Amino acid sequence: MSDRKKLYIKTYGCQMNVYDSERMAEALGGQGYVETQSPDDADMILLNTCHIREKAAEKVYSELGRFKGLKAEKPDLKIGVAGCVAQAEGEEIMRRQPLVDLVVGPQSYHRLPEMEAKARSGEKALDTDFPEEDKFERLKSRPKAKRGPTAFLTVQEGCDKFCAFCVVPYTRGAEVSRPVDRVLAEARDLVERGVREITLLGQNVNAYHGAGPEGETTLAQLIWQLDKIDGLERIRFTTSHPNDMTDDLIEAHGDCAKLMPYLHLPVQSGSDRILKRMNRSHTAESYLRLIERIRAARPDILMSGDFIVGFPEETEADFQATLDLVEAVGYGYAYSFKYSTRPGTPAAERPQVPEDEATERLHRLQALITRDQRRIQDAMVGREVGVLFEKPGRQPGQMVGKSDYLHAVHVTGPVESGALRRVRITGSGANSLAGELI
Ligand code: 5AD
Ligand code: SF4
Repeated sequence: MSDRKKLYIKTYGCQMNVYDSERMAEALGGQGYVETQSPDDADMILLNTCHIREKAAEKVYSELGRFKGLKAEKPDLKIGVAGCVAQAEGEEIMRRQPLVDLVVGPQSYHRLPEMEAKARSGEKALDTDFPEEDKFERLKSRPKAKRGPTAFLTVQEGCDKFCAFCVVPYTRGAEVSRPVDRVLAEARDLVERGVREITLLGQNVNAYHGAGPEGETTLAQLIWQLDKIDGLERIRFTTSHPNDMTDDLIEAHGDCAKLMPYLHLPVQSGSDRILKRMNRSHTAESYLRLIERIRAARPDILMSGDFIVGFPEETEADFQATLDLVEAVGYGYAYSFKYSTRPGTPAAERPQVPEDEATERLHRLQALITRDQRRIQDAMVGREVGVLFEKPGRQPGQMVGKSDYLHAVHVTGPVESGALRRVRITGSGANSLAGELI
């Protein structure tokens, strides 16, 4: 029997949290922890939290409450809260939920080994600093396990945009880009471990301006560097801000074969009045013109976006402008949210839209988005696409992977995980496409 301690991590929120959870598991791996999929046999439970919307934080508190019985049975069990709720409400969490031994913010999780030791000795450990040192560097040289074919790689963190609704600039801090050589070293390491597709992550990934051999480097220049790595077949990036879609990045979408034809470019609203109130510094019109330029470079690109409905003072006419914009773009994917008041953000103090009105708008928007999503997915039938296979499907002999456009595709046939193959799409189901190998 192994005497290694077991770590259970539950991840909420965005892909950057998924990446952070992997790094936290590696950091605690150095302390003798192995990951487990069940909280019941864990020696340490970490909730990597998200603070972007109200319910996310409430879910964390109710999840913590559920561990009460477990902790009573196992007094040595340590419970930690990480991520953006930890950053925003660290002290409050310690007060409100005495079960919690450890609270670590997203900028200090490289200090987890020391914090774990402190928690083991019976003390509470709290760290929500924004330290100077490079946490990614501090986390290097961990055991190099084999990986699946896709991976995230955080290249940029934080945000200086201060949209009036958003907590990110407060929980993740100011915009910081990782140096080019470190990103490339991590990418090469991932490829050696079996990765074929890398998604570059950042809260504002296209604001990337990492230090490189020739000075400040744009995201497009970074992508062209990654393009040279043999064995890396696909590159994606998320999330982008319309104002940082530079000419070289638009061109890369046309010229770089490894850069996949999918772009997540949140606009939030189609009303210029609301966009202004949101502090978005672009208009609906400038966004539509931008998409025209991107489509000129890469006509088949699949667009994705984020929307907020019921932002303070949003009228029916403002909302109609959002519907019009959605009609005009035709999103292959889109995520829509009801505005949620975030304490400390400028919009929190403004007159709120009644809850039932916001809910009704959300339903109307989602119906429109679903219609377009469906239409675009169905239109894939008969087309030939690249698919990177990841894992066996539900049916015997089935394998599933993602198309260039990020649709899930399943085929029946002899194909291995990690294989990138041409596939003809033969059918479109509820959440995935069916295809056959060419
Ligand atoms: N309320 C609702 N949605 C929000 N988002 C960010 N902050 C809020 C908020 N306070 C949404 C935005 C963003 C996505 C990640 O979450 O649409 O693009
Ligand atoms: Fe938040 Fe994105 Fe706006 Fe930054 S650009 S404040 S992360 S919504």
